[in-house]
Amino acid sequence: MMTMENINANVAGRGKSPTLGTNELSAALEAEGREVYRFGFGESPFPVPDVVVEALRQNAHQKSYLPVQGLPELREAVAQFHGRREGLGLTGEQVMIGPGSKELMFLLQLCLDAEVLVPTPCWVSYVPHGEILGRPVRLIHTTSDERWLLSAERLAEEAPDATPRLLILNYPGNPQGTTYSEEELQALADVVREKNIIVMSDEIYGELHHDGGHQSLARYYPEGTIISSGLSKWCGAGGWRLGTFVFPEELSWLREAMCSVASETYSTVSAPIQYAAVSAYSGGEEIESYLSTSRRIIKATGNWAAHRLNEAGVAVHRPEARCSVKNCWRIQASSSSPVKRSLGRRRNSRPASPM
Ligand SMILES: Cc1ncc(COP(=O)(O)O)c(C=O)c1O
Repeated sequence: MMTMENINANVAGRGKSPTLGTNELSAALEAEGREVYRFGFGESPFPVPDVVVEALRQNAHQKSYLPVQGLPELREAVAQFHGRREGLGLTGEQVMIGPGSKELMFLLQLCLDAEVLVPTPCWVSYVPHGEILGRPVRLIHTTSDERWLLSAERLAEEAPDATPRLLILNYPGNPQGTTYSEEELQALADVVREKNIIVMSDEIYGELHHDGGHQSLARYYPEGTIISSGLSKWCGAGGWRLGTFVFPEELSWLREAMCSVASETYSTVSAPIQYAAVSAYSGGEEIESYLSTSRRIIKATGNWAAHRLNEAGVAVHRPEARCSVKNCWRIQASSSSPVKRSLGRRRNSRPASPM
């Protein structure tokens, strides 16, 4: 009879992801009637745009398995969405749809035999992915003086030789809310190009740049950057589980390897969700107005929280995107603020969940 001893050593003793674990604990405490200020799991406080909900309703009957790589119309819409912003001629063939970007990131580390470079502070799942898969993970700690961002000089120091490497770059960053300037991206691009490093560019908060000014590293390093994003944050649809990877043509071999593993595991993402996502990625007036309202609220909330924390002697940077302080949403929503009034005008808004 097998016992716990037989569990793969890379997995043994692992709890749940800290964000999901904290979320479940918070829910249990709230169910006991306790007041909880959640500093763990972050979720968009905004409803899914009406036009996207309606598209899901219209497509509830879609019942067939879709291609592993994703619904062609959706892949095309995702390619146009990122291509327009970055000035790149992307095609649907370069896009892969997955059940959340988290799963795609895991598949990427599984398929690529490379050292993984992770600047910190960072989102909680990149390192466990590497540990579960037995990949060498190198953390690059950044400082408050560096605005918690990776400089080109630090990267060059941490990649001294020709070892194959994958750099995970998340900007706007979770948890810090800061992001790279054009010059910083250009300088990083020079190093990754020289060192032949593949970059998984986690831009899931890109649309929530406070001034709509997000830029991808792919603009400066198109041949080696995989753009990771999805519906979870900008479209308020974390529970729909739809993530996207956009690959350069040069990395089509990697996309094909990932599709092969996907075909043997989750097969494909839910059909109705993929059809509905076409309307989200096709844009239009309603999506634009949804995004500009979201950005305005997030900017006001983030600035307010940073200001209050600075006043209290806590050294935090003013966030440039998303909220850097997850719980500020709840704190501010409980006061009679302009943000609360603005949120109150939106249907189904739930001010209890921070970003
Ligand atoms: C920085 C970052 N990347 C990726 C994810 C995963 O998003 P998805 O819902 O697409 O799996 C999150 C979710 O919290 C995140 O904060």
